[in-house]
Amino acid sequence: MSLRLSSRTSALTPFLAMEVMERGLSLARQGRRVVQLGVGEPDFDAPPEVVRATIAALEGGRTHYTDSRGLLPLREAIAAHYLARRGVDLSPERVLVTAGTSPAMLLVFTALLDPGDEVIIPTPHYPCYPTIVRAAGGTPVLVPTSPVDDYRIDPDAVRRALSPRTRAILVGSPANPTGAVQPPDVIEALLALGPPLVSDEIYDGLLYDDARVCSPLGLAEDAFVLDGFSKRYAMTGFRLGWVIAPEAAVRGLQTLQQNLFISTNHFVQEAGIAALAHGAPTAARMRVEYARRRDLLISGLEALGLHVPAPPRGAFYAFADARRFGQDSLALAFHLLEETGVAAGPGRDFGALGEGFLRFSFCAAPEAIAEGLERLAPALSRLAARPLRG
Ligand SMILES: Cc1ncc(COP(=O)(O)O)c(C=O)c1O
Repeated sequence: MSLRLSSRTSALTPFLAMEVMERGLSLARQGRRVVQLGVGEPDFDAPPEVVRATIAALEGGRTHYTDSRGLLPLREAIAAHYLARRGVDLSPERVLVTAGTSPAMLLVFTALLDPGDEVIIPTPHYPCYPTIVRAAGGTPVLVPTSPVDDYRIDPDAVRRALSPRTRAILVGSPANPTGAVQPPDVIEALLALGPPLVSDEIYDGLLYDDARVCSPLGLAEDAFVLDGFSKRYAMTGFRLGWVIAPEAAVRGLQTLQQNLFISTNHFVQEAGIAALAHGAPTAARMRVEYARRRDLLISGLEALGLHVPAPPRGAFYAFADARRFGQDSLALAFHLLEETGVAAGPGRDFGALGEGFLRFSFCAAPEAIAEGLERLAPALSRLAARPLRG
């Protein structure tokens, strides 16, 4: 057979949390009870106004291609969102609507990178960051962060990682998997380093205690801001996001979008307009509920010996140190899934610094969190006596 995948594709690594989830789904198909705590899938339904607007859009024939950049009323609503939230007066011409934050990232890095160009990524990191950079032909350069100082990015460490090939610095805040929120002095110091910041703000609004997101929007002309409806509005399956691009990059992104995706789904864009117009009260209720679930999950994990060294200040994940139960997080995640029916995210997915950790989501229902913790208890006490060998 002469079929051969490109070396670029063959070099990509699977998304391990998805692999554990998919194994869990196959166990569930065999009749096993499985508690999914490994992926960032809110258990809430999308706001009712959004569902109604989607049905009305479908019934009203809103099922065609749109302007490749997105419907103008949606781009205007996104621009208005930044005026209300950040006081930044943004032209809708700088907004490009995409089928989620993931395609937005692919467009941005395809636009920015020539083969071998570098993107600096603080780690532990969202697994798809380096994969998307590689898929776009670039090279990820990882810069460590530590729970000792709440996974704060060290701008000096980023400076040392710069090279003539550095094309961007990618920051997720609030971060997946750590829940870290980067303070303004870090964002300002990163902006001063020169390369454009690509700011993944998909968890903006999912904040606890007194945490606030500092966005480069309004602080730098050449920053890219990525966001979407998946998490804040529990709209993961709608596939809808956006990028705010520097003026000089808009035309290039539009050309890529026209050729690669044509446009984002028409009726889904109508859902986005409804979410921005009417979804805020539902989103606010979900955030309050996540804060409650965060406490439930973290106190439960700590009681099981799964220490969370830096409690999350945003997003909806707890990144727990599981090394006393086994050093190989992938083997441990599969072992726990088979033994207890609880799916957790293997820390290795998030980079070498995540090895030995497990990621648990608190966007699952409180009953699922409680059941998951209860199921884990006996297996973990066996492993405490006899840790899993990888
Ligand atoms: C940090 C981060 N960025 C981006 C995404 C992708 O989101 P979307 O559903 O908008 O593609 C996720 C999904 O889990 C994420 O955790």
